[in-house]
Amino acid sequence: KAEEKALLKARYVPENKVSNQLLSTMMDTSDEWISSRTGIRARNIVTDENTSDLCTKVAEKLLKKSAKKASDLDFIIVATMTPDYGTPSVACLVQGNISATKAFAFDISAACSGFVYALSVAEKLIRTGKKLGMVIGGETLSKVIDWDDRTTAVLFGDGAAGILLEASDEQHFFNEKLQADGQRAKSLTSGYVKNQSPFYKETSDSSGYLQMNGRDIYDFSLKDVTKNLSDIVEDDVDYLLLHQANKRIIEKISKKINVPREKFLTNMEQNGNTSAASIPLLLDESVENGVLKLGSNQKIVLTGYGGGLTWGSILLTL
Ligand code: ACO
Repeated sequence: KAEEKALLKARYVPENKVSNQLLSTMMDTSDEWISSRTGIRARNIVTDENTSDLCTKVAEKLLKKSAKKASDLDFIIVATMTPDYGTPSVACLVQGNISATKAFAFDISAACSGFVYALSVAEKLIRTGKKLGMVIGGETLSKVIDWDDRTTAVLFGDGAAGILLEASDEQHFFNEKLQADGQRAKSLTSGYVKNQSPFYKETSDSSGYLQMNGRDIYDFSLKDVTKNLSDIVEDDVDYLLLHQANKRIIEKISKKINVPREKFLTNMEQNGNTSAASIPLLLDESVENGVLKLGSNQKIVLTGYGGGLTWGSILLTL
């Protein structure tokens, strides 16, 4: 039971389901193109919610499932690249919404690696004395997508999921490797805020929209993420939960590191790419459908990769 509490999970996706079919009535694309290249068939898109709303739903579910009080929480970390505001952070909005009066709260910006980065930080906080914390990945990518750009609009979805992390006598975290390369920052950018001050002469042509060099990201995934995984994966790993960007990338990585495809869990079919939310969404769904069992000691690897560039893996047991 102690382990169960140590990694309690929950998820929330907006109700509005948008299929590839529906997208093909809005832009020049097809279910065949999207699903054959990415494995994505549908995604959920908000109609009246922001990132903090999705994350608050997750936080409420986590409290309900665990029967913990919000006032027991020591900290709340939200990983997101689509916060409601520059400030306050999404984590502070969640803290206020659930009245976690004792908790400190902050966001982590590491794009699709955000959840892995946040979990790594949370684990250090627990290891150095904090007792109970929430780590949530939440995104409303639909607000930074250029809906006239079919090359990106078909890839992303909205959602949030997270875990409650509680101090425990047993060791659950065994290894990690977090990496970044800011020299490749321009491969994926989103949310540039133009300086409209009368004193400022804007020279950047960066856009508020998500812009990506798909080929660069594809190559980065196969080269750098594969290398990272090779350093972390052990022979007796039961399952790998990679960021859910693209099925083809996962199939290629499976071959490259010589780990059977069945060990790589996927759910991008129904969620699309939800950036920082993708790994905890997959974690929660996989527990719900019985593939992952809390308290079973299954050994899993969580791997995020994306904008920054950032990437990283954590090896842990359930
Ligand atoms: N529907 C139909 N046709 C399309 C679409 C679309 N939605 N988007 C692009 N095309 C067309 C292009 O215009 C191009 O046409 P052309 O040959 O006539 O010029 C053709 O399809 C091929 O385009 P490419 O960009 O070369 O397509 P590619 O095979 O590289 O696939 C993809 C694109 C899926 C994005 C691929 O580069 C990829 O998997 N990249 C990985 C990046 C990724 O998944 N990013 C997610 C966000 S980042 C992250 O989460 C880490």
